[in-house]
Amino acid sequence: MSGESMNWETLGFDYIKTDKRFLSTWRDGAWQPGELTEDNVLHISEGSTALHYGQQCFEGLKAYRCKDGSINLFRPDQNAARMQRSCSRLLMPHVPTEMFIEACKEVVRANERFIPPYGTGGALYLRPFVIGVGDNIGVRTAPEFIFSVFCLPVGAYFKGGLKPHNFKISSYDRAAPNGTGAAKVGGNYAASLMPGAEAKKQNFADAIYLDPQTHSKIEEVGSANFFAITANNEFITPQSPSVLPGITRLSLIELAGSRLGLKVIEGDVFVDRLGDFVEAGACGTAAVISPIGGIEYNDQLHVFHSLEDVGPVTVRLYNELTGIQTGDVEAPEGWIVKV
Ligand code: PLP
Ligand code: COI
Repeated sequence: MSGESMNWETLGFDYIKTDKRFLSTWRDGAWQPGELTEDNVLHISEGSTALHYGQQCFEGLKAYRCKDGSINLFRPDQNAARMQRSCSRLLMPHVPTEMFIEACKEVVRANERFIPPYGTGGALYLRPFVIGVGDNIGVRTAPEFIFSVFCLPVGAYFKGGLKPHNFKISSYDRAAPNGTGAAKVGGNYAASLMPGAEAKKQNFADAIYLDPQTHSKIEEVGSANFFAITANNEFITPQSPSVLPGITRLSLIELAGSRLGLKVIEGDVFVDRLGDFVEAGACGTAAVISPIGGIEYNDQLHVFHSLEDVGPVTVRLYNELTGIQTGDVEAPEGWIVKV
């Protein structure tokens, strides 16, 4: 498929092979000079730790086409830093921030024809990852690693964009206390596949996980963070060591306080206190801001909004965030990196 023949308005979140991806190998204690390649198939040892022991991590960020034709990356330094933390947790070598951002820029430039035009609501999604590779069988860190970045054009992750969906509280855990919940590692997502599929089979957009220790507090959605708004104009989002520290979440915390004048609370969101909230949403790079219409818990659907209405604070947060990403609203210092 070529960029020219894409139907930008109907893009979802599906794999599309684009022209070039960045690839570098870590060998003998250093990252080798990376290169762009057309081949989207990796040739790795059958003993690779990524295949057996889940030694891998990934990131997700987007490139946006602006009105003036320029291209914005949104807070890539934050993704680089989070990937370094994920690598530390799984005993993998760090990708230096400069190398990470440069690789992202190279991939965007090499696939420019796949960037959805300004105004379509789409973006070029970048997927950097690090995997442990090389001949091995014991449970230990790999002898070699691959760092790669590929990209694809995407639209809404949850169908309809700024349209509410119902979510279901899962009885499964995605991460353990002192485990890897705060790292963006594949194992967390493997653990979420079955609960996520169960929720989707029952027509929910995704599963929401509770804190693994007490199962009384909302942690996050399988693919995004959770936030809620109270009638007193408070923005609340769960704080927990097993929640992924999302960059969208971090950005909304900053925008809610500094631009919308909301009181920001990072704390406990008790699942039996959903009545305290007038709006709720899922936020993330792929999800952007996806309003939550209702949450099913113990066979009861708690409704915040009908599936037609979006709360006013959610709309303001959405406009501020997406306006910054596409260059229409002034960005806080350092948030936008031009490609
Ligand atoms: N939580 C989970 C489990 C995610 O997969 C994501 C998406 O990356 C997020 C939260 C949100 O993180 P970010 O805003 O950095 O994309
Ligand atoms: C993202 O938003 O970047 C994610 O990683 C979420 C999901 C696609 C796994």
